[in-house]
Amino acid sequence: MKQLLPPIWLGTLLLAGVAQAQDAAGEQRYAPCASCHGDAAQGDQAQGAPRLNHLSAVYITAQLEKFSAGQRGGADASPQAQAMAAMARTLPDEQAMLEVAVYISALDSPASPATVAGDPALGADYYRQLCGACHAAGAVGNKALHSPRLAGSDDWYLQAQLEAFRSGQRGAHPDDRTGRQMRAMAATLPDDQAVRNVVAYLRELAEPAE
Ligand code: HEC
Ligand code: HEC
Repeated sequence: MKQLLPPIWLGTLLLAGVAQAQDAAGEQRYAPCASCHGDAAQGDQAQGAPRLNHLSAVYITAQLEKFSAGQRGGADASPQAQAMAAMARTLPDEQAMLEVAVYISALDSPASPATVAGDPALGADYYRQLCGACHAAGAVGNKALHSPRLAGSDDWYLQAQLEAFRSGQRGAHPDDRTGRQMRAMAATLPDDQAVRNVVAYLRELAEPAE
């Protein structure tokens, strides 16, 4: 008698096929992004475009949705954030955002070199008191709280984003619930030196640059 493939195997094969097709779609969708973020999504400081490959696909998708909806990168945001919002709007729907996000989060590159001078020991104190409850020990992030991984992020980008939150260039939109939450937290750092210290601490949590 001819052996039939048990349905469970068939299902697995079909799923593998779907996953492969999505990989290819994600790679294609990423092509226009690489001119700023780099082939491995390692980032490019000269363009203000950050490393992305340390982030979860869920966070990347959520940020693309915010850019696309104007909750991030709106009229009050920096010109770079506005340029990024225009890019996010080239992705037709949530499925496309998810595809490119899954592709990005599977890429790899070493962390970028440290560029921000601060005191990591003082920064660690701030982190424990003000940040760790949401971003978790080791700054690996907490999915349930929508708080992203910070370990592995470019230090210049962490500094720029904390400043953007503090000045209201990010996290001010009334519909940006998680951004508003983070804006309130960024305001608890007493001054720019405290920002540099906490960033220097976060940079130490990243894997070493090559
Ligand atoms: C013209 C250059 C440029 C292109 C092209 C571009 N980006 Fe960006 N992207 C940026 C800049 C600049 C930022 C930082 C914005 C800011 O300062 O808030 C950014 C930020 C992001 C962020 C937020 C990361 C974080 O940690 O907050 C994501 C996600 C992202 N880009 C994904 C993409 C994807 C996906 C594409 C392709 C569809 C893309 N970008 C194309 C310049 C670009
Ligand atoms: C109440 C929870 C909470 C606390 C406490 C908190 N954060 Fe956040 N943080 C978030 C959330 C949620 C986001 C995502 C914001 C968004 O969706 O735009 C975020 C985003 C960020 C980002 C942007 C990262 C990126 O790649 O886009 C930085 C940088 C950051 N937090 C640093 C800090 C630092 C430093 C502290 C301590 C001073 C801190 N956070 C405290 C919840 C928190």
